[in-house]
Amino acid sequence: MGPIKISLNESDIPRQWYNLAADLPTPMLPPLGPDGKPVSPDMLSPVFPMNLIEQEVSSERWIDIPEEILNILYRWRPSPLRRAVYLEQYLETPARIYFKDESVSPPGSHKPNTSVAQAWYNKQFGIKRLTTETGAGQWGSALAFACKLLGLECKVFMVRISFDQKPFRKMMMGVWGANCVASPSSETNAGRKVLEEMPDTPGSLGIAISEAIEQAVTDTTGKTRYSLGSVLNHVLLHQTIIGLEAKKQLESIGEKLPDTVIGCAGGGSNFAGLSFPFVADKINGADITIIPVEPTACPTMTRAPFAYDFGDTACTTPLLAMHTLGHAFIPPPIHAGGLRYHGMAPLVCQAIVEGLLEPRAYHQLQSYDAAVTWARTEGFIAAPETSQALAAVIDEAKKAKDEGKEKVILFNYSGHGLMDLLGYDAYLSGKLTDYELPQEELQKYTKVLDNLPKAEIRKSGRW
Ligand SMILES: Cc1ncc(COP(=O)(O)O)c(C=O)c1O
Repeated sequence: MGPIKISLNESDIPRQWYNLAADLPTPMLPPLGPDGKPVSPDMLSPVFPMNLIEQEVSSERWIDIPEEILNILYRWRPSPLRRAVYLEQYLETPARIYFKDESVSPPGSHKPNTSVAQAWYNKQFGIKRLTTETGAGQWGSALAFACKLLGLECKVFMVRISFDQKPFRKMMMGVWGANCVASPSSETNAGRKVLEEMPDTPGSLGIAISEAIEQAVTDTTGKTRYSLGSVLNHVLLHQTIIGLEAKKQLESIGEKLPDTVIGCAGGGSNFAGLSFPFVADKINGADITIIPVEPTACPTMTRAPFAYDFGDTACTTPLLAMHTLGHAFIPPPIHAGGLRYHGMAPLVCQAIVEGLLEPRAYHQLQSYDAAVTWARTEGFIAAPETSQALAAVIDEAKKAKDEGKEKVILFNYSGHGLMDLLGYDAYLSGKLTDYELPQEELQKYTKVLDNLPKAEIRKSGRW
C-alpha cells in the first residue's frame, strides 16, 4: 500500500493561479448589460474593486498569487491529499481513491481560498466593508474569517432555511466579528419586496445576492463592495490552488494523472478549483472523465437550458451565459444548502457545452447513504454538499470493481459537516426524503428566460 497522507511543504505551494479561460477551445460568451450589449469593466465597478474586475475579465493563463495572500493561506495550505484506503477496502475496489482535504481550513471548507484573496484585493483598493450572501453558511463564515484577519467589516445575508437549520454557522460568523441576518430581510428593498409577496419563503441564494448587492451599491461613502463566494471567473481562479497542489502531490508519489475527477457543484467553485488544471490536460489530449455533481432537487447542469440569465432574483447583476433554472427559482429545502443556486459558473458551463465535463445529479438519500458509509469507514463527517460528490465517488469505485480496472479517482472533499449534524440526524431517524424537480416546475421557472437574449451554443466538436 502507498502513502495515505500526502503533504507538500509550504515552500512547494503553487505561486500562480490557473485561468481556464486562456485554454478553452471556444471562448466564453460575454456578460451582457440591461441593453443586451457586453458589459464593460467600468460597469462592474460599483460592485467589485477594479483589481478583481481585471481578474474577472483576464485571459492570461497564469496569475501571480501575492505573497501576503500566501502568508495567510499557510495557516492550512498546502492542504493534505489523502488516500481513502479504508473506503477502498470496504468497497473491495481496485480503484485508488484520493481526496483533497479542504475541510482543514479554519472555517472548514474550500471557501477561504477565495475569501482571503477577495478581502485582500478589496483592502488594497481602499474598501472598508464587504457584503455577501451565504447558503449553508460556509461562505459567510469564510468571508467573516478573512475580513477579520484583514481588518474589514463584514455583513452576511444568510438564506432563511439555512439560518434556521444551521445556527452554529451564524455563531461562527459572530466569533469572527461579522454581522449575519436571515434573508429575505427587512433591511433592503429587495428583501422587503419578497417578504411582502412570500412571508414564509425559505429564501434562496438569488434573493440573498440581491440584498447584499443592494447594500453595497447604496453605500454613499463608496467604501463598501460586494463579495461573491462562487460562480464568477475570479472566484474559480482563486480555487485552482487546490488542483495545482493535488497535481504536485500525485506526482510526488509517482501516481499518474487521475482517470476520474469529481467534485460537487453549487456555483461551481470547489469543483472548478480541483478540476480545471486537469481540464487543461484533457484539452491537451489526456483521457480523463471529469464529473461535476449536483442534487436532483436543483438540476442546473443536468436538466436546465444554457441561456442568458441574471445571477440574482432582483435582476441586478449582468446577464451571464450559463445553465440556469431561472433567476426566480426557489429550490426545495434540501440539506445541501450550498448547492441550491439557480445558475452555475459560466466557465463550468462553457466546459459542459464543449463536452469536457460529464455532469451528474444525485438524490439526497443516496448522498447521505454515501456520507454515512464514508463516516463509518474513513471516519470523517462530510458536509452535505460534499456528500453529493461522495455518492459519485462510490459509484465510480464500484464501476471500477465491475470492470476490474485499477482506476485513479480524485475528488474534492470540499468541507466537513460538523455544523450540519441536524441533516444527519434527520437521515438516521428516517425523516429525509428525496426531491426530484418536476418537469412542469422546471418549465414554469425557466419561462423567465424567454424574454432574455439567447445564448449561442459554441463548441469545437472535439469532445
Ligand atoms: C462544503 C461545501 N462544498 C461545496 C459547496 C458548493 O459551492 P461551490 O460549488 O461554489 O464549491 C459549498 C457551498 O456552500 C460548501 O459549503
